[in-house]
Amino acid sequence: MQLPEHGANPRHVYEKLGIVPPARILDFSENCNPAGPPRSVVELWPELLTRLNTYPDPSGEPFHSKAAEYHGVMKESVIVGNGAAELLSLIAERYRGKRAIVVHPTFSEYEATLRAKGVEIERVIASEADGFKLPVDAVLDRLAEAAVVYICTPNNPTGVLPKRDELLSIIRKAGEDGCEVVLDEAFIDFIDESNSFIPELNEFPHVMVVRSMTKMYAIPGIRLGYVVAHHDVIAELKSTAPHWNVNGIAAAIGAVCLGEEAYRETAIRHATEQRVKMAAFLKGYGCIVTESEANFLSFKPQDAGKLYTDMLAKGIVLRHSENFRGMDGRWLRIGMKSGEEMEELRRELAAALINPFWRS
Ligand SMILES: Cc1ncc(COP(=O)(O)O)c(C=O)c1O
Repeated sequence: MQLPEHGANPRHVYEKLGIVPPARILDFSENCNPAGPPRSVVELWPELLTRLNTYPDPSGEPFHSKAAEYHGVMKESVIVGNGAAELLSLIAERYRGKRAIVVHPTFSEYEATLRAKGVEIERVIASEADGFKLPVDAVLDRLAEAAVVYICTPNNPTGVLPKRDELLSIIRKAGEDGCEVVLDEAFIDFIDESNSFIPELNEFPHVMVVRSMTKMYAIPGIRLGYVVAHHDVIAELKSTAPHWNVNGIAAAIGAVCLGEEAYRETAIRHATEQRVKMAAFLKGYGCIVTESEANFLSFKPQDAGKLYTDMLAKGIVLRHSENFRGMDGRWLRIGMKSGEEMEELRRELAAALINPFWRS
């Protein structure tokens, strides 16, 4: 199947497959908080208009200071960017002409940004039979030959959260071997801040943590993310970033979002509740489900290709896994939406999965 590389933008999927989209589309292929942006952001909107005719702060204030304060780190340890996607591109520049380890199945932008900078990729594929757990030994074996290893925690698309001791064993050995570590925590907000590696960065100057504001705060349209790392690493990343890389509207919105404690707690509760319910439902229909701890999960039905297109015909867009190495189209990913939308998805899936042997 020729399908778009990313979730979201569901109309592209219909276009690529030459299917006329139904009038109503439910998009489970993207992973943003279904609550929508915090109310405080909506209330700020009229005031944001007054900022349109001034240049933004070049360091992304007031967001820069707020992000540093949120994590209890110095401002010099933080760089803000036009989405985590831009920061991944800046990070990739560090490794131009070198070798990177990427653990699959995972977010496609690691390889895309590294390849664009001429970085050689060493792939480690997590085992499906092992529930896509972080393949620690395979990573440890390769660290000495690489300049960097990328680990997504929790991993997209499996939702599997590497254990702290697994991460530590890789990080410690990487330090001995002169290999840097990029931890992408784009979805960690949906689990708990206590799982973040940021508080331990002081001890490990060769580790960078990438964060996205997109997912938790449902603001994919404004593009905002940041990296926390040793100040020397941050200084180097900054030197390669375009001036004014974060727009003033995004910087103001981001600062407000980080103050939204109750909003975050509600989102975590909702995502957990819906994920647990969905996983139980899918298992009841004989599907294999990843041990996700995030606001999405992946599952393996009898025939993922057929289920995917059957659902598209009903106006339901799931995330295919054609470009997730190690899943290779056999799995589908679901992002958690509102309770009603999840109910509707279960109804449609139940009809499609009720007799998978007959249907495939
Ligand atoms: C694991 C992961 N990291 C980073 C990003 C990029 O996030 P942003 O929207 O902040 O560019 C995504 C987007 O889907 C993602 O899935």
